[in-house]
Amino acid sequence: MKTEILKSSQQNILKVVGALQNDDVVALPTETVYGLAGRTFSDAALEKIFLAKERPLFDPLICHFPKQMNESPWRSLLKTGLIDTSKLSDSIQQKVETLANQFWPGPLTLVLPKSTRVPDLATSGLPSVGVRCPAHPLFQEVLLKLQEPLSAPSANRFGKISPTSANDVFDELDTRIPFILDGGLSSIGVESTIIGLEEDQFVVYRPGGLALEEIEAVLGNQLKTRFHSDHPVAPGMLKNHYAPTKPFYLFDGTLEALDAKILAEMQEKLAQGKKIALLLARGEVDRVPLAFKNEAQVVIRVLSPQGSSQEAAKNLFRYLREIDQMNIDFILAEQWPYTEVLGFALRDRMNRAAEKLQKTDKTP
Ligand code: TXA
Ligand code: MG
Repeated sequence: MKTEILKSSQQNILKVVGALQNDDVVALPTETVYGLAGRTFSDAALEKIFLAKERPLFDPLICHFPKQMNESPWRSLLKTGLIDTSKLSDSIQQKVETLANQFWPGPLTLVLPKSTRVPDLATSGLPSVGVRCPAHPLFQEVLLKLQEPLSAPSANRFGKISPTSANDVFDELDTRIPFILDGGLSSIGVESTIIGLEEDQFVVYRPGGLALEEIEAVLGNQLKTRFHSDHPVAPGMLKNHYAPTKPFYLFDGTLEALDAKILAEMQEKLAQGKKIALLLARGEVDRVPLAFKNEAQVVIRVLSPQGSSQEAAKNLFRYLREIDQMNIDFILAEQWPYTEVLGFALRDRMNRAAEKLQKTDKTP
């Protein structure tokens, strides 16, 4: 099958809607990362999602729904028939409704009790379903035309780096899907924050594009976190994910200690004639002594010179994918040093990118 990248136009939106109605799967832009979408209420479409991604069936999908005109996001969710509110206590439902109306459309996924209408394939047999109202206008337009929820994991092959542009999706899924709707670069760059409920407590399953502080400010209490686990409630929490194909060495610690360690590692690799990509978190490129600024052997990218986690999030997957495709032997990366705003999500993605590897260096 030839995969076509479609520019945004009414005609192309209708083409994409037609394909979805036909039980096909298509890649759509979201504000977090691109998604591979198929109708939640079609087992045939859900099967195609798992097949195209080579995703194991035990990894549940996030279900995306439209914000209806003149309806709150919460009312719009109830209309989909995806969730069973009878399983929520009044006080919890109140809080969920507040979160929904505060942060949707946007980069938040809520894991809630599912209704019997949701196919087991969509949730990997779990009694809950992850739901999200995405903010990207093109995804919303498709949902509004379809008037049906769409299950959509990130549009990458399982375990690989999530795509933040139409071209990234093409690199991942060419020949496997008919269409990619081009909605430009994803404005946030990391996946949604996932919150679930355990014994009437809100728990973070995945830090992401919505800062935990913002959610805590609305709930008025600290969130419990349960991500990056060896015993995940959901496989998206598995440690080894977002993996570059090149060896990825992660360095964590204070700036001075870190620079010394990175330099020592570089010296060793360069002496062996190896080519290196250096992914720095913050600061200027000249943090690295001039002696090593040999373009042929060292490529340098800085996530955010000013240390802004929003800027770094936008760049992370893009740079990872870019340097991974270059003619280099190793990626040396500096861990994002802050936990504020999107910092948790950045640190989480870096850790998981490094997990497959052989070596993570932590300076106390
Ligand atoms: O930003 C995003 O969330 C993107 C865009 C496309 O919306 N989607 C995304 O989907 O990141 P995916 O499939 O890459 O990650 C979905 C993860 C699962 O791996 C799992 O961790 C969690 O969402 N999840 C989904 N349903 C769940 C459930 N019922 N219980 C617990 N976790 C669930
Ligand atoms: Mg994913």
